[in-house]
Amino acid sequence: MIILETKNLSKTYNKNIVAVNNLNLNISKGNIYGILGPNGSGKTTTLGMILGIINPTSGSYNWFEERPSAKSRKRIGAILETPNFYPYMDAKKNLEIIAHIKQVKNNKIPELIDLVGLSGRVSSPFSTYSLGMKQRLAIAGALIGDPEVLIFDEPTNGLDPQGIVEVRNLLIKIGQRGKTILLASHIIDEVEKVCDHVAIIKYGQLLVSGSVSEVLSNEPIIEVSSVNLIQLKNVLSKAPFVISIREDSSILELKIKDGFSPSDINKFLFEKDIVINHLKVRKKSLETEFLERTN
Ligand SMILES: Nc1ncnc2c1ncn2[C@@H]1O[C@H](COP(=O)(O)OP(=O)(O)OP(=O)(O)O)[C@@H](O)[C@H]1O
Ligand SMILES: [Mg+2]
Repeated sequence: MIILETKNLSKTYNKNIVAVNNLNLNISKGNIYGILGPNGSGKTTTLGMILGIINPTSGSYNWFEERPSAKSRKRIGAILETPNFYPYMDAKKNLEIIAHIKQVKNNKIPELIDLVGLSGRVSSPFSTYSLGMKQRLAIAGALIGDPEVLIFDEPTNGLDPQGIVEVRNLLIKIGQRGKTILLASHIIDEVEKVCDHVAIIKYGQLLVSGSVSEVLSNEPIIEVSSVNLIQLKNVLSKAPFVISIREDSSILELKIKDGFSPSDINKFLFEKDIVINHLKVRKKSLETEFLERTN
């Protein structure tokens, strides 16, 4: 089942700030989906639109293969910014209030408190919680009503290394329960650790999307080109050491099996009477390189 589909979703603020530009996303049931992009790339705007908080300038989106409605909204839990809890009330009381607002049963609150690791501090007032504990309580709040989909916008922002690990592990645990998760982040490492799918955005535009292992892989990529690219591609597609070939303008990007080197490629092609005019090993995909430069 397709959980979320956006079609040319766009947002321009104040008639001239293009925050999101013809974004097409496709999220399937059970995906742990990362929207990865540097500051200002349009992540929060995208989440705001699909949650019905921000009006798109153009384009559309469907939830659960239907037009968005109050009914579909009830199937989604989200934290867009650190939510306001009552400082003098404890975790349980705060979650009961959320259950009341969402008009759902609150019989699973002790279980949720346990899941987010707050059992030991269940009766301390919220104001005494560390930032990480507050964030974990917010995640518990999003889980109230047992939504099928969870949306988190930079949930580890501002946390210390320990807090970051705790929140990431919690997201992984929630994903293992079969929930679909949409996580916006500017940290490659975070998306790599938590997500199985990723869409990289830049200036509000989709750069690349796919499985995390495909898109964020750190396996070396070997660039080759020759005058006759079609012939080159043909020959390389039959090479025993080539795993995949991607064409990028006048260059072929190869992934090759472990234990083989660029000189094997050179030798193989030379034996087939092909002279290459470019051969280069690149450690990272252009997209991840871009992100590392901009972050
Ligand atoms: N209310 C607004 N009015 C005008 N411009 C806005 C508004 N909200 C966001 N923008 C602009 O839209 C662009 C995208 O912002 P957005 O907050 O969606 O990016 P982001 O990827 O979430 O960034 P960050 O990583 O910093 O949270 C930015 O150029 C931002 O300045
Ligand atoms: Mg943001």
